[in-house]
Amino acid sequence: MIIISVNNNNFLDIKKIAEIAHINGNPLSWFETIYSDANGQIEGIPWANLIPNPNLLSWINAQKDNYFKNKKALIIGCGLGDDAIALSKLGMDVYAFDISETCIKWCQNRFPNSDVQWFVYNLLELPNSWKNNFDLVVEVHILQAVHSKIRNKLAKALSPLVSQDGNLICIGRKRSENDNALNPSGPPWPLKKSWLKDQIEDLNLIEYQITDNTNPSRIINMENQRYIAIFKKNK
Ligand SMILES: C[S@@+](CC[C@H](N)C(=O)[O-])C[C@H]1O[C@@H](n2cnc3c(N)ncnc32)[C@H](O)[C@@H]1O
Repeated sequence: MIIISVNNNNFLDIKKIAEIAHINGNPLSWFETIYSDANGQIEGIPWANLIPNPNLLSWINAQKDNYFKNKKALIIGCGLGDDAIALSKLGMDVYAFDISETCIKWCQNRFPNSDVQWFVYNLLELPNSWKNNFDLVVEVHILQAVHSKIRNKLAKALSPLVSQDGNLICIGRKRSENDNALNPSGPPWPLKKSWLKDQIEDLNLIEYQITDNTNPSRIINMENQRYIAIFKKNK
């Protein structure tokens, strides 16, 4: 077992600790390491910017007002909680979970008066009662953050959560279809549209847009293009 400690998170540290977690046979353990080593300091969380994802906000703005009221949303790997809070403010009944206990405590401290229900869960081990249960399932930068050895399994766990007529939203860094590098370096690992479509094969891809990231990101030297993919259970 290789022991890791991260004192000063940066992009290279993240790659290193994710790789070591993978070698140790627990490829998801490094998320808790990042959150707990951050010690409550936002600078320790490379993906956190304390605002809702701009692509998610654009999608929200394009929906009719009555899309959200009294509907149920599930936020996968919610991070510090801003996407969950944005949907809750629109009147949705929001469940949000993350694999990191420290992360969820952080959300509860940030938003003590919100109606969001916060949970510590692994996407691979969710309650059975959550199946077919959510009008909107949202995944922002989760699939791209996990090692390819486990990514397919996580992707396959998404569509069973979507209720009849519900939507799944996936947001991430785009990988070109022509990029055939065998062992791309990550995290993050940009993802191909064809890969995403193959994994979420039991839902219909109804929209796929590419945007430039307008978000100031502290993750450097990465491709700037993001995708937002909208899947629907029924056409
Ligand atoms: C790159 S961060 C993105 C966080 C947030 N969605 C955002 O956009 O700021 C990936 C998040 O997914 C969580 N995560 C990774 N694998 C997970 C899993 N199997 N189940 C639940 N959460 C997971 C991590 O703890 C981390 O908070």
